[in-house]
Amino acid sequence: MPEPRPPSAWIARFAPLAPAGSPVLDLACGSGRHTRLFLARDHPVTAIDRDLSGLEDVAGQRGLELVQADLEDGSPWPLADRRFGAVVVVNYLWRPLLARIVDAVDDNGVLLYETFALGNETFGRPTNPDFLLLPGELLEMVRGRLQIVAYEHGYLKQLPAIKQRICAVRTDRPVALYHHAPAAAICAVVSRSKVCSASKQPSLKSSSGMRSSSSSFTSPLASCSMKDACRSYGRTSGFSCL
Ligand SMILES: C[S@@+](CC[C@H](N)C(=O)[O-])C[C@H]1O[C@@H](n2cnc3c(N)ncnc32)[C@H](O)[C@@H]1O
Repeated sequence: MPEPRPPSAWIARFAPLAPAGSPVLDLACGSGRHTRLFLARDHPVTAIDRDLSGLEDVAGQRGLELVQADLEDGSPWPLADRRFGAVVVVNYLWRPLLARIVDAVDDNGVLLYETFALGNETFGRPTNPDFLLLPGELLEMVRGRLQIVAYEHGYLKQLPAIKQRICAVRTDRPVALYHHAPAAAICAVVSRSKVCSASKQPSLKSSSGMRSSSSSFTSPLASCSMKDACRSYGRTSGFSCL
């Protein structure tokens, strides 16, 4: 079985906003790269997909609930009124579910949603407008319901693709802001070796272009260490940070 790809840098960046130990929903989880990320952060995870074959290696792991369901066949929503400390949706869009997805975010919980947007058809799949977000669509989805922490819409050169992504929370209080450098930097240095060597201190380039020989980046409101980010990639996936 091929190893899952590393998690999205957007999801890794904001994963710490899920309240400690709270349950996480990974909707249309695929091979579970975000399921693994949150399991490694000691969250119980409910992973849903119509095809769970990419999760065979972690099936039965403590804290993991696998739900095999077709989310688009008109069947009732498989989670009833359950709420989660984090709801994660990446590279999946089925508009009839959007209200359900917001409903599933618990008090103080976080919604992390990232998928392709209109214009992506220039670069590759998906090309069907049914599966491409309109400008501002994720903002509209949460307006008046969640507090927006971060939102982006644009061209991602490294894929390349047009993507839209949001981080929004169900609280009126300010939340910690996480610097984006650790996740992005670690994406660049993730390898398939089996040891997560947080003790090594790589020279990483921050968004400001400054080089750091330290293992942590500090923002005015929060710090995110290399060790935390390594953990977020997960012992389960075997990814390591060199
Ligand atoms: C592009 S993959 C994204 C997987 C994962 N979220 C990630 O970012 O790695 C889209 C996923 O949506 C799932 N999917 C597509 N249509 C579905 C449906 N009708 N019901 C449930 N899952 C579906 C697919 O099986 C696939 O795993």
